[in-house]
Amino acid sequence: MTIRDAQPADAEAVAAIYNEGIAEREATFETRLRDADDVREWLRGLYPVLVAELDGEIVGFARIGPYSEREVYAGIGEHGVYVTRAARRHGVGLALLEALAGAAQGIGLHKLTSRIFTTNTGSIALHQAAGFTVVGTQRRHGLLEGRWRDCVLVERLIGDAAE
Ligand SMILES: CC(C)(COP(=O)(O)OP(=O)(O)OC[C@H]1O[C@@H](n2cnc3c(N)ncnc32)[C@H](O)[C@@H]1OP(=O)(O)O)[C@@H](O)C(=O)NCCC(=O)NCCS
Repeated sequence: MTIRDAQPADAEAVAAIYNEGIAEREATFETRLRDADDVREWLRGLYPVLVAELDGEIVGFARIGPYSEREVYAGIGEHGVYVTRAARRHGVGLALLEALAGAAQGIGLHKLTSRIFTTNTGSIALHQAAGFTVVGTQRRHGLLEGRWRDCVLVERLIGDAAE
């Protein structure tokens, strides 16, 4: 398996994997499916988008986006990680998160954070395996199809901040 920066040619595959996660209704509050143009837009931004490639196929991706518009929080990135169903539990998510932490350090971030539905026990376990700490639970953080969802907040300190 290779972890590398996403290229415009990967956009279709990345969108398909994200849409799988959106359709499961366990990974994100998002319900609008994305297309390759949406992914190419991410690639034009300043933050890393990584893909995992196995036997020539894109099987997962991870990306960082801004945590806040406030300058004081410029060192924090909010991330997501998605692995296609058929490739799960083979270490792809862990490899992506490790590489993402390196990419975060490379652009000077001191922290990665994300919110995970309390019911998404697989993602919580993955993040703990990847050195993230569960900070706490945010109750009723948003509505997904009319149902309140609670989220755990996870974070991992990066580089000097981790020492
Ligand atoms: C969460 C997700 C990214 C995990 O990716 P993955 O490639 O399957 O994870 P890995 O194989 O690298 O797992 C590493 C470790 O995390 C833990 N883990 C991962 N998935 C797990 C699950 N479903 N149940 C329990 N533990 C799990 C295990 O400790 C695992 O190590 P092990 O397989 O040796 O026991 C994947 O299930 C996924 O894409 N889900 C849908 C999208 C999503 O929820 N994304 C996160 C949004 S916050």
